Amino acid sequence: MCHDGSGEHPEAPEPANPTASRRAFSRLLLAGTGLAALSACAPEAARPTPSAAAAASAAATSAPVTATPSATATTTAPPAASVPASPAATAPETAPPARSTVKPRHSLTDPASPWVVVNKHRPLTPAAYVPAALVQPRVRLATSGEAALLNSTTAAAAEKMFAAAAGAGVTMTLASGYRSFATQTSTYNGYVNSRGQAAADTASARPGHSEHQTGWSFDIGDGGGACSFQPCFADQPAAAWAKANGHRFGFVVRYPWMLHDITGYYYEPWHLRYVGVEAAGEMKARGITTLEQYFGLEAAPAYR
Ligand code: DAL
Ligand code: ZN
Repeated sequence: MCHDGSGEHPEAPEPANPTASRRAFSRLLLAGTGLAALSACAPEAARPTPSAAAAASAAATSAPVTATPSATATTTAPPAASVPASPAATAPETAPPARSTVKPRHSLTDPASPWVVVNKHRPLTPAAYVPAALVQPRVRLATSGEAALLNSTTAAAAEKMFAAAAGAGVTMTLASGYRSFATQTSTYNGYVNSRGQAAADTASARPGHSEHQTGWSFDIGDGGGACSFQPCFADQPAAAWAKANGHRFGFVVRYPWMLHDITGYYYEPWHLRYVGVEAAGEMKARGITTLEQYFGLEAAPAYR
């Protein structure tokens, strides 16, 4: 049986040793059995999640945010497509998530909104959306060109978070930020070519379905690279610090451990999403770890 039990979800059963569990899977990957494990632990059919018609209705009618980035892009070269490994995930053994009581104050559909929810059921509109302006944050970069860009709100928050992490002795790098529709196309196709489409869909968004295209998300590294985009990254100081402190700067770990039946993706301890300090803080305080649950939206384990 696939076993996880990460504790990312407050109601998930706590494993005796979750770190050992992830390390065990890392060893599986290293042994070349990663794809088999992934296949065996592929997301199952969506389980019921809170369907908050009121929240959805409010989302559809809420006014989009008007804040827009003020600076312009300095670089446009796309990053090389990477094919990071995915951790194993197992059949969820979690209780139904808490029902959201949040009344959206920002649009959940406008890609310029910090609360936009992009998943396998909620593509970007327009699909080829490009943020009004993108900036390169003044943080330690582990990438260049287009991938070093974020929208200006996210960039400012990232600068504060990276500085705080550094102050705590934690090295954090920006590993992958903005991705255009074209870059996401090549990235996704890289996964499909190396893993097949089913496995690709557990780790990489199809073009027009990636948060990276909004400028609200980015992947972090730890400056070393040994665990970049690997399951073991969850145990690195950068990931641990971001998980514990990201909310203070408006960030959440968007794809938590074991909640792929809701988010559609296996655990990505490196993928941070800006939602603002208030929302991130409330999610932390209430133990809600996915945007789908926070906003009372349906689970999106697979494309329709
Ligand atoms: N890896 C995330 C799901 C993306 O491709 O946007
Ligand atoms: Zn990412």
